[in-house]
Amino acid sequence: MKRLAAEKACEYIEDEMILGLGTGSTVDYALRKIGKMVNEGLKIKGIPTSFRTKKIAKEEKIPLTSLEENPEIDLTIDGADEVDSELRLIKGGGGALTREKMIAYYSKKVIIVIDETKVVKMLGIDFSLPVEVVKFGWTSTKEKLKEFNCNVELRKIMNNPYITDNSNYILDCEFDRIKDPVKLEIDINSIPGVVENGLFIGLADEIIVGSKQGIKTLG
Ligand code: A5P
Repeated sequence: MKRLAAEKACEYIEDEMILGLGTGSTVDYALRKIGKMVNEGLKIKGIPTSFRTKKIAKEEKIPLTSLEENPEIDLTIDGADEVDSELRLIKGGGGALTREKMIAYYSKKVIIVIDETKVVKMLGIDFSLPVEVVKFGWTSTKEKLKEFNCNVELRKIMNNPYITDNSNYILDCEFDRIKDPVKLEIDINSIPGVVENGLFIGLADEIIVGSKQGIKTLG
């Protein structure tokens, strides 16, 4: 289902495009496909949203550039952890939310590729909201986040704090549900010490959903 969605998104790629390359297991399928397309003569340049994506893109010999060199991105293909009917997203399961949000923000078009399990009635029901925070004073930031009525956990990997590509921590905020994602995105980002949160509002243009029945498009 993930591959179906990811490969469908690659049909939107045109010669000479600057491409935002998202992060995650779904996007990995798109990277493999783009690698093949490049091998067959497609001329694009990609901007990776994570070290992980950069590594795979290099393996696939996808030419890379940076936001500094190419501040306008034609098309971004990225995954998501949850998507609601208004194309609002939770992202950051892979910890790359800050770079992903920047790349989406500077893109003319953003296509999100998911499998059908990620479509939800309300954001926050199944998935915690990741918040990237600076290490300095992170326990105070954690206490402040709890005021939004959520359980907050420092993300860990093998018993050590998970460190983002920007050398920060991730605090995963578990909500019953997120009633007002628009307000929450702004409120969380107004806490000093928060770098970015995983709510993506008004950034996705199209969602390609891979399902057992085939491909569905939202948006
Ligand atoms: C990375 O930080 C995330 O935003 C991913 O895009 C998201 O977690 C989807 O990942 P999968 O495609 O692996 O489910």
